[in-house]
Amino acid sequence: MNTYGSAAKEKIINSAREFVYAELGGDSSGHDWWHVHRVTELAMTIAEKESANIFICELAALLHDVADEKLNKDEETGINKVKLWLKDNGVDDVTAADILEIITTMSFKGGTQKREMSTLEGKIVQDADRLDAMGAIGISRVMCYAGFKGRPIHHPDMKPRDNLTLEEYRSGKDTAIMHFYEKLLKLKDTMNTNMGKDLAEGRHQFLETYLEQFYAEWDAKR
Ligand code: ADP
Ligand code: NI
Repeated sequence: MNTYGSAAKEKIINSAREFVYAELGGDSSGHDWWHVHRVTELAMTIAEKESANIFICELAALLHDVADEKLNKDEETGINKVKLWLKDNGVDDVTAADILEIITTMSFKGGTQKREMSTLEGKIVQDADRLDAMGAIGISRVMCYAGFKGRPIHHPDMKPRDNLTLEEYRSGKDTAIMHFYEKLLKLKDTMNTNMGKDLAEGRHQFLETYLEQFYAEWDAKR
């Protein structure tokens, strides 16, 4: 794998931070800088526990949303942007391939993305990203995203859909609450690492508690 010294690593990481901040700093769709920051911190914490390559985890976590198709003309444009950045910043081909493999396979895509992460570092970054879509922060992000898309919080006649195709998942007119069933509540069972599984338990429980309270308030029962 990589043979960078600590100064070289620091330079690449700092440069990645600047790049990502410039790309995502102003985003309000749930992909803002602070999401990236949280995912990076969490990925590094899990990486330490799992004795994984921390540099790869940190770099992949920092770059993981730059190529997101929601923020680019299409997926390919986004990936090329990251590829170019890796080259321009002197990241060697092997490390670059590792990073690109991680960020192109980690997305949930409505559960239609079935490919397993091929490296421990990929598993870690995927867990960290998914954990940020759960719990109190996950709920905040869903509400922000629904607002961003002009979608309602809830509609009692709209039932969550199952087995969505990727097209339906992306173009869906679903409410924020439907998204809990289409994604958030499914994430617990997709965790790769032990620490991810542990953290997911608590965050999942919080989602359940939230929904229970939500429906009780909706029906004016609490
Ligand atoms: P991530 O960056 O974590 O891989 P996404 O790109 O799928 O996740 O979405 C960013 C955030 O917006 C997540 O918190 C996700 O749950 C939320 N989100 C995505 N699609 C929807 C939707 N259709 N309705 C409400 N929230 C959504
Ligand atoms: Ni993300």
